[in-house]
Amino acid sequence: MDKGINKQFSYMIAMLIVIGLGMSFKNSTFHIPGNQEDYEPKQPIEFSHQLHAGEMEINCQYCHFGAEDSKHAGIPPAIVCMNCHKFVNNTTNETRLSEQETREPVANLEISRIYASLGIGMDGQKKGNENPTKWVKVHNVPDFVFFSHKPHISANVDCAKCHGDVASMTRVKQVSDLSMGWCLDCHSQDHNQLQQVAGRTAPLLDCASCHY
Ligand code: HEC
Ligand code: HEC
Ligand code: HEC
Ligand code: HEC
Ligand code: HEC
Repeated sequence: MDKGINKQFSYMIAMLIVIGLGMSFKNSTFHIPGNQEDYEPKQPIEFSHQLHAGEMEINCQYCHFGAEDSKHAGIPPAIVCMNCHKFVNNTTNETRLSEQETREPVANLEISRIYASLGIGMDGQKKGNENPTKWVKVHNVPDFVFFSHKPHISANVDCAKCHGDVASMTRVKQVSDLSMGWCLDCHSQDHNQLQQVAGRTAPLLDCASCHY
């Protein structure tokens, strides 16, 4: 091939790549591997949102208190659990069962793990070293993406819009695919309405809003 054709050829390839990228942005399910829809890992303590956020109606932000003001919603430290579990080391069903069998209730194994993570026994006495629970992170966006809860919670986007009905889940599951198309779908949906919110630093479809 002579130089001229070669140059044209590279130009065409470059265009194809650009068009290809453009198409992948439009295709809302395309995303790089690593963030998995339906990911539902087992956790070190069988904590149930269905019980706590559903049946007991504890507010999401009672535990995820970072969501309003920071990038991360955060996972609550064990002392937040202890606000209640200092007094509750058993379920109602287990207590009822032990009453029927006229014996002392036995501490719930999963609840005892909260105590163990703080290095204390069920009697509240110091027993060993603290060993914070290593919760498995369910939702992950790659490092080159900037995501923060704060602007979303400030704009009243409901947790469920992105995380699904967590209050009905016994184990948390990723329901959205967290692809770029998914972010852009919502960012362009109510574009005119979204554009009016005061204090926003960048337009919602700008590459630089989400990429460093
Ligand atoms: C609202 C947020 C947002 C905006 C705006 C945005 N991106 Fe992304 N982008 C993402 C997310 C999230 C991912 C990661 C997707 C994944 O993990 O599957 C991503 C991934 C990418 C990737 C990796 C390949 C791919 O398609 O997944 C490229 C390249 C990219 N973005 C370029 C751009 C360019 C260029 C623009 C401007 C036209 C842009 N992005 C605007 C959120 C955004
Ligand atoms: C606009 C979509 C969106 C909304 C609304 C949203 N989240 Fe998230 N959330 C995400 C994404 C995306 C991640 C992954 C972030 C990462 O990997 O850095 C995430 C991560 C999390 C995590 C993991 C720990 C962390 O902070 O990174 C928790 C917990 C969480 N969200 C709880 C909540 C709660 C509670 C609400 C409502 C008060 C909420 N989220 C609202 C998209 C959202
Ligand atoms: C507002 C009070 C409150 C908070 C905060 C709380 N819990 Fe609970 N939790 C309860 C009550 C009450 C029960 C017993 C429900 C019943 O009677 O069956 C319970 C039950 C449990 C169980 C046993 C469930 C079963 O069916 O075996 C586990 C495990 C548990 N909680 C873990 C946690 C963890 C981990 C945290 C902190 C992230 C936490 N809880 C925070 C009130 C709370
Ligand atoms: C009593 C405390 C408590 C309450 C109330 C609570 N959560 Fe959680 N949440 C946790 C704990 C502990 C974890 C980590 C273990 C797990 O994934 O189940 C968690 C994990 C999560 C995750 C997964 C984070 C990740 O790793 O990506 C999301 C999303 C989430 N919560 C959303 C919510 C929403 C939405 C509500 C309200 C409907 C809520 N939570 C109410 C304690 C709580
Ligand atoms: C369900 C709708 C929805 C989804 C999904 C969503 N966003 Fe947003 N996003 C919003 C709204 C609403 C705002 C706030 C607009 C405002 O304050 O003007 C916002 C604001 C932002 C901002 C702040 C822009 C600024 O400079 O102030 C960033 C960054 C952002 N989103 C990133 C993301 C990323 C990354 C994803 C995907 C992982 C995502 N968003 C998914 C609705 C959404």
